[in-house]
Amino acid sequence: MKLYIDTADLREINEIYGYGVLQGVTTNPSLVAKALTSAGETFSSEDAFYARFKEVIKQIATLVKAPVSAEVLSSKAEDMYKEAKELAAIDENVVIKLPMNEEGLQTCSKLATDGIAVNMTLVFSANQALLAARAGAKYISPFIGRIDDTGADGMQLIRDIREIGDIHGLTAEIIAASVRHPQHVTQAALAGAHIATVPYKVIRAMVKHPLTDIGIRRFLSDWEKAKREL
Ligand code: G3P
Repeated sequence: MKLYIDTADLREINEIYGYGVLQGVTTNPSLVAKALTSAGETFSSEDAFYARFKEVIKQIATLVKAPVSAEVLSSKAEDMYKEAKELAAIDENVVIKLPMNEEGLQTCSKLATDGIAVNMTLVFSANQALLAARAGAKYISPFIGRIDDTGADGMQLIRDIREIGDIHGLTAEIIAASVRHPQHVTQAALAGAHIATVPYKVIRAMVKHPLTDIGIRRFLSDWEKAKREL
């Protein structure tokens, strides 16, 4: 399973990119808005905000040189298509994120015909995933954490989509999204997700184990002790 980071914060991407573990980035409007507003940026108009959004996508794509999902904000298919073309022109690694609804499916199939990669997002059922795959989506993003929030089992959806994909030879890659904690990452890997897109703080938590820290301290103190006894 490949690892993407789920953020629009360049500092977070830069830091985790340095670990050499990332193979892509996903963003969504909430994440971009959070990254820009928490950096204290202000905007004189909606156009200025949108221009900055495109700038951020360009900066991320330049940094990672790997797939970067950027989500359309339009809700009508023809506007989505136009917006998607603009976003795709930012960088060859931009993947267009579309919502899983009728308008998203129409737009997906047109973009797929144009050879533009689509990540179908907000997927909450196996049938939605099947439709997205048939519309030509390159990536499908089931939101496991939000399914868990409803009391259902998000990971079962990953297993079902993977099984359907394997039975029917579907090529779309499953991105486990809405990952909330390190256990989700392990479970997604076991369930057959091709990719997990993981928030910064969860990647940081994946690195840590108390026994690793204790082990490092013990090795160093044994070494110092031995040096003193030389
Ligand atoms: O990858 C989708 C993600 O950004 C949504 O996560 O935690 O808001 O459900 P969450």
